Amino acid sequence: MKHKIAVIAGDGIGPEVINEGLKLLKSISKHNKDIEFEFEEFPWGCDYYLEKGYMMPKDGIETLSKFDAVFLGAVGDPRVPDHISLWDLLLVIRKNFDQYINLRPVRLLKGAPCPLKDIESGDINMTFVRENSEGEYAGSGSWLYKDKPNEVVIQDGVFSRVGCERVIRYAFELARREKKTLTSISKGNALNYSMVFWDKIFNEVSKEYPDVKTYSLLVDAASMMMVLRPKRFEIVVTSNLFGDILTDLGAAISGGMGLAAGANINPERKFPSMFEPIHGSAPDIAGKQIANPLATFWSVSQMLEYFGYDELSKKVISAIETILCEKKVLTPDLGGTATTSEVGDEIVRIMFS
Ligand code: NAD
Ligand code: IPM
Ligand code: MN
Repeated sequence: MKHKIAVIAGDGIGPEVINEGLKLLKSISKHNKDIEFEFEEFPWGCDYYLEKGYMMPKDGIETLSKFDAVFLGAVGDPRVPDHISLWDLLLVIRKNFDQYINLRPVRLLKGAPCPLKDIESGDINMTFVRENSEGEYAGSGSWLYKDKPNEVVIQDGVFSRVGCERVIRYAFELARREKKTLTSISKGNALNYSMVFWDKIFNEVSKEYPDVKTYSLLVDAASMMMVLRPKRFEIVVTSNLFGDILTDLGAAISGGMGLAAGANINPERKFPSMFEPIHGSAPDIAGKQIANPLATFWSVSQMLEYFGYDELSKKVISAIETILCEKKVLTPDLGGTATTSEVGDEIVRIMFS
């Protein structure tokens, strides 16, 4: 089967890690005659913005809509304000393609380093279902009396019934399928509209799933517990901003930013879904060939699962684990001396030799 993939390598370390992701995808199709990938690369990002004045062309979304998936590196460059670069590329894709599910595994793979004590690989095994289309990221607000002494900014959180129900229901379905517990993370004690509403909808939807054991935690306590008792989390559902923050914390306890992946999913498959490492463009290490591409490989695994290649998807994860356990070809963030590209060569070797 043929899959059309739009590639946006983006900024900083984006092109370096995406190169290796493409190496892996190409080798997968070379070794599996029934899988064909057609790639088209788009040079959109901050260099493009500095040259043209926009992050992607006006018909960018329409162009991408013809693809089965988007494979994205990272966006962000110190020369361009973040709210422009991210809102006009990454966030605009998530929103226009109604990728309202952001699936972020927080799993300590075999061989991955963990800063917590007495933790083994099976002890951290969570899947974050992050709301990805509204909430604190609705982009609604106002800036009154700008640049005057009495200026005021208002940033609205937008929590719709449809928006909350669909992400919560998705998480319940996942928990039911995988026979796992579901933890909702919110903050109803302080956010007296949005999070009270979130909790109410979580309780309503939970009645349809009596077989799923649920917990409801406040985000402050949940972040403490992720560090002290990570084992208690299985499937987790939370809002856009809380999910963003907690999954960086999740990355920190499960091998670092170089290992954390995320899939932006439109479950109805009306629009393309987007696969990316969750780290940013890491300007501090860009261009040095020391970025860790393992997160990008994990996002390749998520893409393969999305296309229905479950065995291959698992094979990628076990190849990542082999790299982590052998500790011979690792980038400096994991204590090694290998280059980004050497790690790419290594995963291909492990997968197909
Ligand atoms: P970052 O994730 O880029 O970097 C945080 C730290 O982690 C840095 O020290 C970096 O060197 C390290 N790191 C990240 N990825 C790594 C990898 N693959 N291998 C080794 N080390 C890695 O976060 P930041 O510094 O807060 O943001 C930099 C820029 O990226 C900003 O412009 C930000 O807005 C943007 N950003 C983009 C995305 C995205 O495109 N999905 C995500 C997060 C941040
Ligand atoms: C992520 C990033 C983005 C987010 C930023 C860059 C807008 O941090 O994908 O985790 O907050 O969603
Ligand atoms: Mn983030």
